[in-house]
Amino acid sequence: MTKLWGGRFQKSAEQWVDEFGASISFDQKLVMEDLEGSTAHVKMLSACQILTEDEAALILSGLETLKEKAQAGDLEFSVSNEDIHLNLEKHLIDEIGPVGGKLHTARSRNDQVATDMHLYLKNRVKEIIEAVTAFQSAIVEQAEAHVDTIVPGYTHLQRAQPISFGHHLLTYFWMLERDKERLSESLKRIDLSPLGAGAMSGTTFPIDREMSAGFLGFSSVYQNSLDAVSDRDFIVEFLSNASILMMHMSRFAEEIILWSSEEFRFIELDDAFSTGSSIMPQKKNPDMAELIRGKTGRVYGNLFGLLTTLKGLPLAYNKDMQEDKEGMFDTVHTLMGSLPIFEGMVRTMTVRTDSMEKAVHSDFSNATELADYLAAKGMPFREAHDVTGKLVFTCIQRGYFLKDLPLSDLQDASPLIGEDIYETLKPKTAVQRRNSLGGTGFDQVHHQLGLAKQLIG
Ligand code: ARG
Repeated sequence: MTKLWGGRFQKSAEQWVDEFGASISFDQKLVMEDLEGSTAHVKMLSACQILTEDEAALILSGLETLKEKAQAGDLEFSVSNEDIHLNLEKHLIDEIGPVGGKLHTARSRNDQVATDMHLYLKNRVKEIIEAVTAFQSAIVEQAEAHVDTIVPGYTHLQRAQPISFGHHLLTYFWMLERDKERLSESLKRIDLSPLGAGAMSGTTFPIDREMSAGFLGFSSVYQNSLDAVSDRDFIVEFLSNASILMMHMSRFAEEIILWSSEEFRFIELDDAFSTGSSIMPQKKNPDMAELIRGKTGRVYGNLFGLLTTLKGLPLAYNKDMQEDKEGMFDTVHTLMGSLPIFEGMVRTMTVRTDSMEKAVHSDFSNATELADYLAAKGMPFREAHDVTGKLVFTCIQRGYFLKDLPLSDLQDASPLIGEDIYETLKPKTAVQRRNSLGGTGFDQVHHQLGLAKQLIG
């Protein structure tokens, strides 16, 4: 088949070479964006009298037919037409005749493909933000139900201090909130039209780039034609924001996995979000959480893949840049799969308050309370730390916890200690009293919850 660009060629490439160079197997995802971009381009060409009204009307009706066919899944694409742009141009010419060949006036595939990807990502980023909000709402729901549920908080995965489980969960709310902020802020750089930059240097035709940008809903245009066709930072930025978002999900997934283990028994995942083992009948595995943790790797890979592809590329367009798409599509797909799964998993999980209660009463996570108690009574904190540490050691030797120490032993360690220490050592008291701004104190968690609810509307 002769190529749309075949004029200067004496022979055509072999099929297997075409196959290597073609992007149609994946860039057909951009079919609607490409048709939308072409529509805006033609309207602008007509308004600027580069195409006659009749020509424009014919091309626009042809593009409309292609849109309908695309929606109905009736468009066939072929490798010999290389990519989505040439496939659609070929279809248009087949549809309306040689006038279809005027579509590509004052345009190149280089500004065309960049326009398509800006349009694509602009919409996907908005959808991703919505999916993150839905996920946040599940977190808020569980957090609200568990403000008063007390769990050990950890550092180094060692029991540290008792905290509200709601407080723990809300941590992820805030991480996701920043992820959304990053995504929203990136829209400013996605919402930019490359269309009309031509192959790299602009065009001799009297086009109106701002007009076509306006038709496409872009807020502004690239100011430099080489930059317009060479910039892929908006994709790198998306992949980077996606990586951070996946990293947060992966940390949460890891906790979900730990908490549902027999060792923790802090939560039980709903059957709908768990799987069994083909050999071990007792198993209930947190596969979805593991998979999200695993998929984080592929998103990082997509980020590093593109950074590496772009590194050292001279201006302007290079075919290397065709490699920008699959990782971007894959990342969108991964996020749009992982977010609703995580949302459902969190919304339906059962929190085992009994195990949490048990855990928090049989550990030393209240040791800071004793040290703080002494410090509040005037003992230098460093000394209070030492006194408490020695008492912890005594308990370990005797096989019990701080609350089990007789008052006489406590008073031997420091005469500052009174009967009220037993109240102070209770996990609930410990949590309640941590009322500093952003702390785990119940009042603070309620305050935080109010802010979170306001943010997700
Ligand atoms: N399929 C190409 C890509 O995805 C479109 C741009 C091609 N431009 C060119 N001059 N070969 O990058």
